[in-house]
Amino acid sequence: MDDEDLRELLGDAAHGYFAGGAGDEITLRDNMASWSRLALHPRVLVDVSRRDSSVELLGRRRPHPFVVAPMAYQRHAHADGELGTAGAAADTDAVYVLSSQTTTSPADVAAAVPDVDRWFQLYVFKDRQISRDLVTAARETGYEALVVTVDFPIGGWRERDRRSGFTVEHPVALNPGGRALTTAELFALHDPTVTWDDIGQLADEAGIPLLLKGILRADDAERAVDAGAAGIVVSNHGGRQLDTTLSGVDALVPVVDAVQGRLDVLVDGGIRRGWDAAKALALGADAVMVGRAVLAGLARGGRTGAADVLTQLVAELDTSLALLGCPNARDLDRSFVTPAPWP
Ligand code: LAC
Repeated sequence: MDDEDLRELLGDAAHGYFAGGAGDEITLRDNMASWSRLALHPRVLVDVSRRDSSVELLGRRRPHPFVVAPMAYQRHAHADGELGTAGAAADTDAVYVLSSQTTTSPADVAAAVPDVDRWFQLYVFKDRQISRDLVTAARETGYEALVVTVDFPIGGWRERDRRSGFTVEHPVALNPGGRALTTAELFALHDPTVTWDDIGQLADEAGIPLLLKGILRADDAERAVDAGAAGIVVSNHGGRQLDTTLSGVDALVPVVDAVQGRLDVLVDGGIRRGWDAAKALALGADAVMVGRAVLAGLARGGRTGAADVLTQLVAELDTSLALLGCPNARDLDRSFVTPAPWP
């Protein structure tokens, strides 16, 4: 989302925060490039007059695999903030994930957009009571799963934010007074001591299914199964944490093969087109998260702008199913993708 019009809309500092990544942004760029390294391998002469993009996620049938990724401080992108992206998810039947660095409370999102299927993303803060209160508020207001982000013991090395001095000026649970704090100040309040023991305990306490977001290794995926997680998100945090990590799609296959269907596997990072999602499903993902594309839609046009992005992704996936000769998304398998021959 490094476009000039977005920079103009958001201003340099907020644009740098949302569009930027860690270090030299090699992973940020590679997240997008990684999908193009896979070529599609269509089958022909299949009746594709009726198509079905639905998937099964946490035991429920969803009309399509798109999940709105958790993203922080959304009122810095548009006055609609989280109500805009949650509304867009409701309008398009996407699952919505609210960030624990949200600038709208879980209860306010639930009250304003009661019909959205919603999950809550959790960071464990040093002041664990803040995290506990967020989980309680989310559970009591209809959030159906907890997405614990596990790749953020500390903030990544983000040079755009270091240069711009971007400050968060909207209240968040970590900073209810809304004192202008830099992201580095806010991220210093995350708890870097969290281990698998805490996850086991969280899974026991949560009272709703737990997903772990930010897994890139098969051995960690196995541990997620052992810890009782219902799902994992194969993710490098949008290239915002450790530069030069693998992309989600490059890390996906060993993870899918390790977990053998014992939990749901989502993938994110660089998904901009419906056919990217088709590739993810073909490699064995159950669903995909989309972050910056939705945020760019929010910035440009509030709820409607974000909904337009999701509507297009859903339509592009439907087109992909027809043209791949695979009318049912759940029948996508590895035969439909192959390493791309182009450079
Ligand atoms: C970020 C956090 C807050 O990537 O998720 O900025």
